[in-house]
Amino acid sequence: MAEWKNRKRIVLGITGGIAAYKGPEIVRALVKAGCDVEVVLTEDAERFVSPMVLSTLAGKRTWRQQDFLSEEYGWKIPHITLADWADVVVVAPCTAETLANIAQGRGKELLGSLLLATRAPVLLCPAMNVNMLADSSTADNLRILKERGYTILDPDSGDLACGYEGKGRLPSPEVILEEMWRAVCPFKTLEGKHILVTAGPTWEFLDPVRFLSNPSTGKMGVAVARAAWYRGASVTLILGPVPLSRLAGFDVVRVVSAEEMKEAAFAHSGKMDFIVKAAAVGDYRPAEYSGEKMKRSGSATLQIELAQNVDIAAALGERKHDGQVLIGFAAESHDLLKNATEKIRKKNLDYIVANDITAPESGFGTDTNTVRILGADGSASEFSGSKEDVAEEIWNIVLSHKRSSR
Ligand SMILES: Cc1cc2nc3c(=O)[nH]c(=O)nc-3n(C[C@H](O)[C@H](O)[C@H](O)COP(=O)(O)O)c2cc1C
Repeated sequence: MAEWKNRKRIVLGITGGIAAYKGPEIVRALVKAGCDVEVVLTEDAERFVSPMVLSTLAGKRTWRQQDFLSEEYGWKIPHITLADWADVVVVAPCTAETLANIAQGRGKELLGSLLLATRAPVLLCPAMNVNMLADSSTADNLRILKERGYTILDPDSGDLACGYEGKGRLPSPEVILEEMWRAVCPFKTLEGKHILVTAGPTWEFLDPVRFLSNPSTGKMGVAVARAAWYRGASVTLILGPVPLSRLAGFDVVRVVSAEEMKEAAFAHSGKMDFIVKAAAVGDYRPAEYSGEKMKRSGSATLQIELAQNVDIAAALGERKHDGQVLIGFAAESHDLLKNATEKIRKKNLDYIVANDITAPESGFGTDTNTVRILGADGSASEFSGSKEDVAEEIWNIVLSHKRSSR
C-alpha cells in the first residue's frame, strides 16, 4: 500500500437513507484498509442502522446526535474536535435532506456543524430515490456543493430499494474507498492532465475458440492508471481481456486484439499529456483466421503462419506531439538493460519501465514487481515493491524530471 495511505483518519458521516444499512460494510472496508474511523450518525440515521454495530466494527464509540449538546461530551466540543482530527470526511449515504442542510450551512446536527468546521476534504455520496435525485432542489444543491469544492460521488443506476429503477444507488464500499483515497491523496501533481494507459494482454484468435495470448493480468497498468487518477489526472484506460474490478473513476475502453488496441490508442492519443503503454500486446497474430473451428488433422504437427502486428508504442512515438510524454514497458527475459535502452531510442520513448520476467515475484500476474526505470535523458533507477508502490515511484520519477527540465 502507498505510504501516504497509512493510518488515515476518517470521519464517516451516515445519514438517514435506506442505504445506511451499508454503513457497517463501509466501516469494515475502511478498517481493513488500515484507516482510523470515527462514525457520526445523524439523528434520523439511527432509525436505519445500529450504533452498536458501527461501534463494534470501528472499535470505538459511535457519535450520536445526543452527544452533540450533551453535558457528558459537550466539553470536548465534538464537532470541532472531530473536524480538526479528520484527514477526510466521507458522508455515505448522504440524503437529500443532508445535502440541503449542507448547502444552507446548517449546524443544528453534529454532522452539519462538523462539516462547517472542517478544513479537510469532504466526499459526499448521495443516495436516494431516482425522482428525489432528479428534483431541481436536489440538483441545485448538488451543483452548489460542487462549486464550493465538495467532491460528489455520482450515484449508481439500477434497482432501488424503494422499488424504482434508475439512478440513486449508493456505490459499493470499494468505489467509495477509491474516491476517498483520491480526495485525500496529498500529491495533486497531475491535476488537469489527460493520461492514457494501456494494460492487460491481447487475444489473437486462430478460430472461434482458440487464441494466442500471454499471462498478463493488467495489474501493473491498472496500478499506474490508479496512481495517476489519485494525483488528479483524467484517465483513459485501454484494457485487454482480463476480469478486473476496481476500475471506477477511469474512462475504460475494452479491447480484445492488438488491432483493436491500436485503433483505440490512436483514437485517444491526440489529446493526452502522458501515454503509458503497459499492455502486453501480442507481436504476432495468425496470418489467417479460420471462421470454423479447426479440426485435428492426421499429421502430428501443425504449422501456423503468423503475421506481425503493428508496434503500437513505436507508432505512438512517431505521432508524439510537443510536450507529450511516452512511457513504455519492457518485459525481458535476457539482456534487460541493452534491450530496454534500444527500445527507448527505436520507439521514441521518454521512459521505459523494464522488468525481468524471470526474477521471482516479478512480472506477469504477481502483486509485486522489480523494475528499472530508464529515461531517454540517460537517467536510471531501480525499484522493488508492490505494483501499487512501483506505480507511485514511476510517477514520482517522471514528474520530478519533468519539473526539473522546465
Ligand atoms: C424508509 C425510508 C427510506 C428513506 N430513504 C431515503 C434515501 O434513501 N435517501 C434520502 O435522501 N432520504 C430517504 N428518506 C428520507 C429521510 O429519512 C429523511 O429526509 C430524513 O429526515 C433524513 O435525515 P438526515 O439527512 O438528517 O439523516 C427515507 C425515509 C424513509 C421513511
